[in-house]
Amino acid sequence: MTATDWGSLLPTRDDRFSFGLWTVGWQGVDVFGGAIRPPLDPAEAVHRLSDLGAYGVTFHDDDVIPFGSSASERLARLTPFRKALEETGLVVPMVTTNLFSHPVFRDGGFTNNDRDVRRFAIRKTLDQVDLAAELGAKVFVAWGGREGAESGAAKDVKAALDRYREAFDLLGDYVLDQGYDLRFAIEPKPNEPRGDILLPTIGHALAFINELAHPELVGLNPETGHEEMAGLNYAHGLAQALWHGKLFHIDLNGQTGPRYDQDFRFGAGNARGAFWTVDIVENGGYEGPRHFDFKPPRTEDMDGVWASAAGCMRNYLVLREKVRAFRADPEVQAALAAARVDQLAVPTVDPAETLADLRAEEFDPVEAGRRGMAFEHLDQLALEHLYGVR
Ligand code: GCO
Ligand code: MN
Ligand code: MN
Repeated sequence: MTATDWGSLLPTRDDRFSFGLWTVGWQGVDVFGGAIRPPLDPAEAVHRLSDLGAYGVTFHDDDVIPFGSSASERLARLTPFRKALEETGLVVPMVTTNLFSHPVFRDGGFTNNDRDVRRFAIRKTLDQVDLAAELGAKVFVAWGGREGAESGAAKDVKAALDRYREAFDLLGDYVLDQGYDLRFAIEPKPNEPRGDILLPTIGHALAFINELAHPELVGLNPETGHEEMAGLNYAHGLAQALWHGKLFHIDLNGQTGPRYDQDFRFGAGNARGAFWTVDIVENGGYEGPRHFDFKPPRTEDMDGVWASAAGCMRNYLVLREKVRAFRADPEVQAALAAARVDQLAVPTVDPAETLADLRAEEFDPVEAGRRGMAFEHLDQLALEHLYGVR
């Protein structure tokens, strides 16, 4: 293997990096302070992201078309955005609906206690589903940030799940009726902005999807930070979603353990987790975009925003090189064999065997109990690749 030329490691369209308009466009509004950056014109964001090496942009309806726009305002907003897409060749692989910012969504959209609001949320989503199909998006993300509660009696969780299912069933019927090539991806999050959000983890969402009328149309959009906020292993979550055939999309970012949703640029935060994330994304059969959902910290001006966006892609590429070098390292391959990782792919009982054969087998658990698993050496090799000393 030749040594990596780190300096020339720059993103290309083939890397399929995409960004939400709301990421670079975040003005820094948080619970303790207002906007510290100017609004970012969507067309400008498209050009800047294209220059940086991204291949796609994603957006909420409200990111391009302000809430409550008339039909003519809608067209006036969409036209320059579409022109920027044409000029740059950037694609729109995913879109989503904002069912969380406007006061009407104070108790969520699809699971709001108020039936009128639920009906409005479905109408708003249907409009964006039409736009998704028009722009060629293949994935429609559903992040239910406001679907949840802060208190006990206020939310009948079983009824809320009935209504959540009803919404996905109606949306699925619509996509099938229209013949759209579009699938939904639920984005789990444990909390924030609600005290407790419904479908808080990958596992909850997977179980929910099984109860839907069109489960084949619904998968997941797991976000790094959201799983790590719950103390969970993101790479393991991605692997399980892949195992179920449900990894439709990913939101990559950075987080340092269970605390508020940090939305750091990818590769910042839990660097070791990021290494295994890139390993599963590259080698686990995921074929979708490498989508970043981060928030450039409030310390930054617009130069800092673009530096932060570039950092997401650069860190992904650096980690991809390191993962490749790890997998190609003969010492790693020997360590994998010593750790018996290959044995796990072999069925425990041979199809030709009977359970009687299994029960008759001679085995010395005392002797087997003396064998170490040799995992530490394997993990040390991974860390040495990550630390850059191999
Ligand atoms: C978060 C979420 C959101 C959603 C996005 C799509 O950080 O809490 O990731 O950013 O992904 O709004 O609906
Ligand atoms: Mn987040
Ligand atoms: Mn997200």
